[in-house]
Amino acid sequence: MKILFLGDVVGNSGCEAIKKNLAKIINKYSVDFTIVNGENSAPSGVGITEEIVKNFFLAGANVITSGNHVWDQKEIMNFIDQEQRLLRPENLISNSPGKGFGVFSSKNKKIGVLNLMGNIFMKKCDDVFEASKKFLEEYRLKRDYDFLIVDFHGEITSEKMAIGNYFDGNATLVIGTHTHVPTNDSRILRKGTAYQTDAGMCGDYDSVIGMNLENSLNRFLKKDSKKHFPATNEATLCGAIVEGNLNTGLAIDIKTFIYGGELNNSI
Ligand code: FE2
Repeated sequence: MKILFLGDVVGNSGCEAIKKNLAKIINKYSVDFTIVNGENSAPSGVGITEEIVKNFFLAGANVITSGNHVWDQKEIMNFIDQEQRLLRPENLISNSPGKGFGVFSSKNKKIGVLNLMGNIFMKKCDDVFEASKKFLEEYRLKRDYDFLIVDFHGEITSEKMAIGNYFDGNATLVIGTHTHVPTNDSRILRKGTAYQTDAGMCGDYDSVIGMNLENSLNRFLKKDSKKHFPATNEATLCGAIVEGNLNTGLAIDIKTFIYGGELNNSI
């Protein structure tokens, strides 16, 4: 089972690259299931709209994950309960709309997707290690699903690496999102879970994490500046392709995926 995970899609340039390339990539790499983090995909670079959700599914995505910006486009609060394939972090404060976990199918196999959010330098949410412990007590690989993919939306590398190892042996892939920079540390952990600290963004890298370069610099320099807005050149699609073992649900292989745009490409 080949699963493609793509990191945070940023603004129109990210959406265009998904629309233009995703079907081609799925076909070229024989991908069976695709997960896209869409929480920065709205034209303003924060949040996601109902229309974008639909377009990602049309382009070939099977599940969309999110993070701290999930509610920035208010319409999504009403829509998320109608669309099971759109996830928000599982450990958001209780009574939040939507769900943080779902089980989906591909090739007669069940694929669990769990969306978590970190606690350090992030919006207030429930303790991610407590939430993970509770999840692992309730659900089990090969009993409740054949594969499990965890999108861990967090700011700091240590928290992400700790969560990766906490899920080791109980998930097919743990991959980080949110920093918008791909890390060069994809590997299979001791007990068979594939891991990458951050998928990187699907956005224009001639920027500051996907936002207009000059304006971002001016904000840091405290010069005249506007509210952040996304950069508009061709996006690089970033993430990983993991191959899951049909018998164990653990990883056979993980390859970092970097396609198009400004970054050196790799697969
Ligand atoms: Fe984020």
